[in-house]
Amino acid sequence: MKNRKKFYVTTPIYYTNASPHVGHIYTTIAADILARWNRLSGKDVFFLTGTDEHGQKVQETAEKAGKTPKQFVDKIAKEFQNVFKLLNISNDNFIRTTNPFHEKEVQKILQELYDKKYIYKGFYEAYYCVGCEQYKTESDLVDGKCPLHKTIPELRKEEAYLFKLSAFQNKLLKLIKTGKYQILPELRRKEIITFIKSGLKDISISRLKEKVFWGIPLPFDKKHSTFVWVDAFWNYITGIKEKKVFKKFWPADVQLMAKDIIRVHATIWPALLLATENKLPKTLFIHGYFTINGEKMSKSLGNVMDPVSLVKRYGNDSVRYYLMRNIPFGQDGDVSEKSLEDRHNNELANKLGNLVSRVTSLAEKTGIEKTENKLLKKLKFKEIEKHIENYELDKALNEIFAFIDICNEYVQNQKLWETKNKKQLYELLDSIKAIAILLWPFIPETSEKIAKNIGFDIRFENIRKPLDVKRVKKSDILFKKI
Ligand code: MSP
Repeated sequence: MKNRKKFYVTTPIYYTNASPHVGHIYTTIAADILARWNRLSGKDVFFLTGTDEHGQKVQETAEKAGKTPKQFVDKIAKEFQNVFKLLNISNDNFIRTTNPFHEKEVQKILQELYDKKYIYKGFYEAYYCVGCEQYKTESDLVDGKCPLHKTIPELRKEEAYLFKLSAFQNKLLKLIKTGKYQILPELRRKEIITFIKSGLKDISISRLKEKVFWGIPLPFDKKHSTFVWVDAFWNYITGIKEKKVFKKFWPADVQLMAKDIIRVHATIWPALLLATENKLPKTLFIHGYFTINGEKMSKSLGNVMDPVSLVKRYGNDSVRYYLMRNIPFGQDGDVSEKSLEDRHNNELANKLGNLVSRVTSLAEKTGIEKTENKLLKKLKFKEIEKHIENYELDKALNEIFAFIDICNEYVQNQKLWETKNKKQLYELLDSIKAIAILLWPFIPETSEKIAKNIGFDIRFENIRKPLDVKRVKKSDILFKKI
């Protein structure tokens, strides 16, 4: 068999200090779409997601809840796994940083960095926001507070081990400028270049165990726990090593995340990889950050959209579809349950649902007759493919839905319910087949229902291959109007 191309996509691993919210599922759905699209294109795909379970934030939250950190993270990690399952996420591994394999690998890497003198002992003094689990410079703060968490960062001054991040400044700049290490969209690349030019300082990679015990002990000094980020980044590697596919899949083809964590991902992470002589991921794609009803999502505001109840009310495909269609991928945006309901009713139920139900119901009554499908010429497959390659997931959906509109107009203009033209009905059914295949990465459950009902396999080559069925049954309702 020919050597197939590979595709490795990752999401950030999510903190286990609170239940999953709609922001977490956004990135994971996007990654799922890329994974499924690449599988359809015939590549060998690995899709990794998971949870980031150590650190001060988790330790403190568990304590407040009267639980041990382990009890706490076990519960939240389960919630993440359950919600991803509900959403039909097709990840190939779910990595948890408390997994013993991961912990051991991280210790090996730390020892290597220490032996190579990239880690040294010193003192560290800086502002630290526990909410972000990130160091802040004076210029990051607004009125002395973290703009994201509205809290005053703690000033940390303690004995610590440091990583020689500064040594990688020029090398990183060069890799980013030449595009060898690609950061997308362009706006983010520019931001990072400016940030790196302003100077990279060595960073603390440990906390005294007496302060943060919930972390991986440094292998060369057990009085210290590993800084949560230095532990977390390696998930991208341990997650494939655990499945024994590191050689095949590393480096990652694309790593998805929002802008909140781009600085660390575009500096510390590649520097750690360079220091350990690992290849760098090919692309970091930074999608937008969204608000809910115009406000920052926060527990205290009580506007955290709970993915489980959204799926219960609208179905997993509506939630997947809505999040990808509503916000241009890569830009900031806003989501609300009202607009989810509107898109569910107007686009999924009225456009896609209606098309499938009208056409299958007419085809059941009158039968179909095989013919050349001229309608299909209006489907812009190449453009859709290009959009996905450029991470324009919303535009790909726009293009598929433009074709759905064309099909609905065809039913309307040709008055098919009167003419009962069997050839035209065949054209429509064959077009629905193409639509369902293209939509599979976005709304897999619905696409599979359509495929089963009409009788075809979901494969790219079947888009152009004429549908080969003689009889069709009326489809069940795909989307109930709310
Ligand atoms: N644990 C770190 C990541 C370590 S990766 C080595 C972390 N976790 S997090 O739980 O805070 O997740 C942040 C990520 O969740 C964002 O980068 C983004 O992918 C997703 N989102 C969280 N809220 C979001 C929005 N409001 N909008 C878009 N994405 C959101 O950071």
